[in-house]
Amino acid sequence: DALDAVLERVSERVTPDADERERLRAVTEELTDRAETAIEELPVDADVTQVGSSARSTWLAGDRDIDLFVRFPTEIDREELERYGLDVGHAVLPDGHEEYAEHPYVKGEYEGFDVDLVPCYAVDSATEIRSAVDRTPFHDAFLQARYTPELAEAARLLKRFMKGVGVYGSDLRTEGFSGYLVELLVLEYGGFRPLVEAAAEWHPPVRFDLRGDGGPAEVPPDVAEAAEFDDPLVVIDPTDPDRNVAAVLSEANLARFQHYCRELLDEPRESLFFPEPTEPIDAAGVREHLDRRGSHAVAVVFDTPDVVEDQLYPQLRRSLGGVADEFDRRGFDTLRATTFADGVGETASGTSVLFVETAVAELPAVERHEGPPVHVGEHAASFYDAYADDESAYGPFVDAGRYVVEREREHRTPEALLRSDTLFDVALGTHVETALGGSYDVLVGDETAALAEEFGEEL
Ligand code: CTP
Ligand code: MN
Repeated sequence: DALDAVLERVSERVTPDADERERLRAVTEELTDRAETAIEELPVDADVTQVGSSARSTWLAGDRDIDLFVRFPTEIDREELERYGLDVGHAVLPDGHEEYAEHPYVKGEYEGFDVDLVPCYAVDSATEIRSAVDRTPFHDAFLQARYTPELAEAARLLKRFMKGVGVYGSDLRTEGFSGYLVELLVLEYGGFRPLVEAAAEWHPPVRFDLRGDGGPAEVPPDVAEAAEFDDPLVVIDPTDPDRNVAAVLSEANLARFQHYCRELLDEPRESLFFPEPTEPIDAAGVREHLDRRGSHAVAVVFDTPDVVEDQLYPQLRRSLGGVADEFDRRGFDTLRATTFADGVGETASGTSVLFVETAVAELPAVERHEGPPVHVGEHAASFYDAYADDESAYGPFVDAGRYVVEREREHRTPEALLRSDTLFDVALGTHVETALGGSYDVLVGDETAALAEEFGEEL
């Protein structure tokens, strides 16, 4: 049928050919040899294992990452693990640089491949891990033992589809599906089509526990019960049942995925897998939209805090939510809100933006403030007395049985709020708060069109 035809064409584009597979194999072997030679120089023993999609033939053609893990005995302490890990990393990748996850590792380029060389502990089970990366070899063992070429093809299709619709990636900017999660879902349903058909009908929360075949690397259900999670999608990690593999997937991205599954089944097309890049909007375009929408736009613009992506985006979203909620509480009615940044994770700082479109541009100088019903006696009287002499307020007067006063409104416009200290009363992310404490700009209405120069695509 039409979907099969689409999947066949996509498959041709994402399946690595024999050349690519051979190149990857050869380079991995070379890197592994180099790592093993470096390990011989160390006072401890360790082994090298390839993990991730390149170890399981589930990478997308043209993707060039190789993940190698060096497993050290649990007897050495953390400091030694880090030191030996970096020694091996630098020996294998002389031009590599250090990156820091839970502990430091070396990242670098080798023969056109992006290589991660990550040290971890060789623990006996993923339930005994000392750091998050120790789990990875177990994930790999679990999948390796159960994957077939058909499943690998389905996993590639699913990754490509999720990339196309913008929900692939377990980093905290994306809050989407990880490669491991994709492969577990494919394993659960046995193929791309059955998964997509089922997902279109899911009613979150949805829960999966793939354990029970007694195969390698699983912690059988009778050995450990799975923990409870209140995430919209729960996929119990078969190697560590205390963990939900889908923990970072946001509700919105799960919904987005379900929407596009339905879309793909209704009208199968390749463009869902390979969408056209979004056309950036220009300043005139922004002005035109604002004019046509008749809405009010405000933006807080500040220097991007010097933290990594995984720290920054959750803080930007938290800050944006804080501002949008405050606008709602104060009657400005948030229509849409978004946040974007550049220069993330670079030392020379870029620009970060909290952008909010409101339904209301300006409110009256006064706001209505309701007191208690007149009949509640003492309480009502003290309300009356409190405002009776307030020159700046109208009233108190009686309206539908209550005392009401019209008092001066604190902020008449969204921008007035943003320029005041009230901005710091809303829930901002820590580093965002510090950055704003330095200085920031507030753009209003057509002024926001200037953002199109840098952020045309995001807008
Ligand atoms: N990993 C890690 N630390 C790194 C790099 C990778 O712990 N510095 C782990 C990840 O947690 C994951 C595996 O190694 O379990 C591979 O990571 P990644 O490349 O992100 O996912 P893949 O499954 O390889 O999927 P893709 O096809 O997108 O590369
Ligand atoms: Mn990978």
